[in-house]
Amino acid sequence: MSEHLDRLERRIASREARIGIVGLGYVGLPLAVEFGNAGFRVLGIDVDPAKVANVRAGRSHVEDVPASAVRRLVRGRKLAAQDHYRGCGKLDAIVIAVPTPLRKTKDPDVSYIVAALEEIAREIRPGQLVILESTTYPGTTEEVLRPKLESRGLRAGKDFFLAFSPERVDPGNAVYTTRTTPKIVGGSTPACARIAALLYRQAIEKVHTVSSTEAAEMIKLLENTFRAVNIGLVNEIALMCEVLGLDVWEVIDGAATKPFGFMRFYPGPGIGGHCIPLDPHYLSWKLKTLNYYAKFIELAAEINGNMPAVVVRRAAQALNERKKSVAGSRIFVLGAAYKRDIGDLRESPALDVMRLLHERGAKVSFHDPYAKQVRLDGGSVKKVTPLRAEALRRSDLVIVVTDHSAYDYDWVVRNARMVLDTRNATKKVRSGRGKIRRL
Ligand SMILES: NC(=O)c1ccc[n+]([C@@H]2O[C@H](COP(=O)([O-])OP(=O)(O)OC[C@H]3O[C@@H](n4cnc5c(N)ncnc54)[C@H](O)[C@@H]3O)[C@@H](O)[C@H]2O)c1
Repeated sequence: MSEHLDRLERRIASREARIGIVGLGYVGLPLAVEFGNAGFRVLGIDVDPAKVANVRAGRSHVEDVPASAVRRLVRGRKLAAQDHYRGCGKLDAIVIAVPTPLRKTKDPDVSYIVAALEEIAREIRPGQLVILESTTYPGTTEEVLRPKLESRGLRAGKDFFLAFSPERVDPGNAVYTTRTTPKIVGGSTPACARIAALLYRQAIEKVHTVSSTEAAEMIKLLENTFRAVNIGLVNEIALMCEVLGLDVWEVIDGAATKPFGFMRFYPGPGIGGHCIPLDPHYLSWKLKTLNYYAKFIELAAEINGNMPAVVVRRAAQALNERKKSVAGSRIFVLGAAYKRDIGDLRESPALDVMRLLHERGAKVSFHDPYAKQVRLDGGSVKKVTPLRAEALRRSDLVIVVTDHSAYDYDWVVRNARMVLDTRNATKKVRSGRGKIRRL
C-alpha cells in the first residue's frame, strides 16, 4: 500500500480529513452538510458570493437542506465557505459539483469543470483525493481531469487519487436523500476507487464501486436517459390516447396494477430541471463523436420538447369550447417550477408554456409558492400574482402546470371558470368536474 493511500485512509477513518466541496448548489450543499454531520470539517468553495454568504450566515438556499443544519455545522466549525480556492492544497479530498449545462448547439459545456480544475491543479499535492460529481459524458474524468491534474508531474493512483461519483439527488424527495441514496464510485485505478468509496461510506449508507470512471459516468447517463425516454414514451401514449378518445390516466393506473414488468411514468407539460432534459445529450454528443447516432435519446427529446406546445393547443381547444381565442384571453398558470414542491425553475416547461401563450396574445399571469418571478425567453421578467379567488374568477382559463401539494385543488376548481390540468392534480376533486380538461 502506498504511503499516501495509507495516510489518507487513516485520516478519513479518524475524521481528521478535511473535505472541500466545489460548488454549493443543489448537489454540493446537501453533500457538504452530510460530510459535516458525519464529523468532518468541510470547506465549501463557490464563485457565487451570495451562496458563500448564505452558508456563512447559517442560511440555506436549497429546500432539502434545513437552515438549522447549516447553522449548527457553521457554529460547530464543521462547515465553512469561501469564494476562492486559496488553501485548497491543504484539503485531503475535493469533490467537484459544478454545473454541466449544454451549449445552444446542445453540445456539452464542461467549462465550469475546467475552470474549477485549473484552480485545483494549481495547488494539488501528493496524497489528495479529487472526485468529480458533476454529470458528464463517459471519458471526462480520464480525458479532461486526469491530464490536467497530472500536468505538474503527479500520477493518479500513486501520488494522488481520482474518481468519478455521480450525484443522484432527487430534489424534494424526503425518502431518498443524499445519505440514503446508494452512491456509485468509479476510480482511475483500483486504489482511487477504494479510497473514494471509503470516504463516501463515512457519510452515505451504501456505496457501490464499479470498475472504471467511465462506467460510473455511463451509469448516471443510463439512469437519466431511462427517465427521459420513458417520460417521452408516456407522453406519446398520452397523445395516442387523445386521438383514441381515451383517458391516459385511467390507462396508466390500470397498467400499474401489474406487479411486474411495468413501471409507472406520467405524462405532463414537458421535462425540466438541470438533469433529465440535459444529461441524455451528453451521451448522444459523445456517441456522435464515435459515429453512433443515439436514436432513443433524440426521439424522446423531440416528443418531450414538444409537450409545452401540446399544452397550448389543449388550452386553445378548451377556450374554443367557450367561443374564446387564446389571443386576448386571461390565462392563469399554476406552478412555474419544473416539478412539485420545489422552486427550481431551470428548463421548466412552465416557462415555455407561458412564453408560447404570451406569443399568441394571451394575457398570462402565474403563481408559484416557491418563485417570486420568472424570466421568459428573451429576458422579459414576469412577477408572481397572488393566488386569490378573484384572480382565478377573472381568468378565462387556469392551467395547472406544476402540481404543488400546497394548492387546494377543490378551491381552484370551485373558483375557476375552466381548468386545464396537465398533471392529473385534480383527480380527487369531486364537484365542478365538468370544468376540468386534462392532458
Ligand atoms: N440538481 C440536481 O438535482 C442534480 C442531480 C444530480 C446531478 N446533478 C449534477 O450535479 C452538478 C451540479 O448541479 P447543481 O444542480 O448542484 O448545480 P447548481 O447550479 O445548483 O450549483 C452549482 C454551483 O457551482 C458554482 N460554481 C460554478 N462554477 C464554479 C467554479 N468554477 N468554482 C466554484 N463554484 C462554481 C455555482 O455558483 C453554483 O452555486 C451538475 O453536473 C448536475 O448535472 C444535479
